[in-house]
Amino acid sequence: MDQATSVIELRQYVQHWKDHGHSIAFIPTMGNLHAGHMSLIEKGQALCDRSICSIFVNPMQFGPNEDWDHYPRTLESDIEKLEAVGCDLVYLPAASELYPEGLDRISQVQVTDLTDNYEGKHRPGHFTGVATVVLKLFNIVKPDVSVFGKKDYQQYRVISKMVEDFNLDVQIIGQETTREPSGLASSSRNQYLDATQLETAAMIYRQLQQTAQQIEQGARDFDSLEKTAIENLDGAGFTTDYFAICNAETLQPASADDRNLVILVTAAVGQTRLLDNIEISLW
Ligand code: PAF
Repeated sequence: MDQATSVIELRQYVQHWKDHGHSIAFIPTMGNLHAGHMSLIEKGQALCDRSICSIFVNPMQFGPNEDWDHYPRTLESDIEKLEAVGCDLVYLPAASELYPEGLDRISQVQVTDLTDNYEGKHRPGHFTGVATVVLKLFNIVKPDVSVFGKKDYQQYRVISKMVEDFNLDVQIIGQETTREPSGLASSSRNQYLDATQLETAAMIYRQLQQTAQQIEQGARDFDSLEKTAIENLDGAGFTTDYFAICNAETLQPASADDRNLVILVTAAVGQTRLLDNIEISLW
């Protein structure tokens, strides 16, 4: 696997591949790679001739009291995993490469509407940080396809809207969430959980499935479904930030005649906030 740390180096690899007519899949990550990331790389490989993964713990998307300092950095094992899956190139930019004049001086990308609620509300500035770094990475890599995990459903929709709004020439693919046998969504933050917390955490997906099933069977009192779900989760020891039944496209609260829905949930076990969601198609 090739490695690049500078924009110039990265662009040389990409140009060489493009000169040979190869298409390029790009998977941006913050490292600490797990099965979910591997499935993104494999999806990219299925769609394109070459795969590029970036690893960059983007300071711009972390709030002042969040875990940027402690975010797990496991470069050696990440590289082994990327080699094992047959990734062609890993891009490892330094913060000084992406933000040469510092975070305060960089122009910012603000994606409208989709960022007002949920993670946008709970983590002010988060999606501006995500959209800004992803736009920069797209302009550096110039991929044909980029794969995002649907576990971070709001992020996936925000990036899709950015691409649409700015006419970016890249196809965004949403990849299904990889889960542990318990149903818990794969996440770098799962490693903060002890054995008891891991057991509790698995309840999030069971609750999502239960509410989805009620909707599929005709329940349409979304407020009451949300309230019951939050009571169940909080009763089991979570601190639930939101459990929201939404229109899958706009992420606005779902109305009774919407056909494509998504339930977004964020609930903390101890200090660890866990995100998950479930899509529901009522066609
Ligand atoms: O999902 C992530 O890991 C990050 O938000 C991303 C897309 C790599 C941007 O830093």
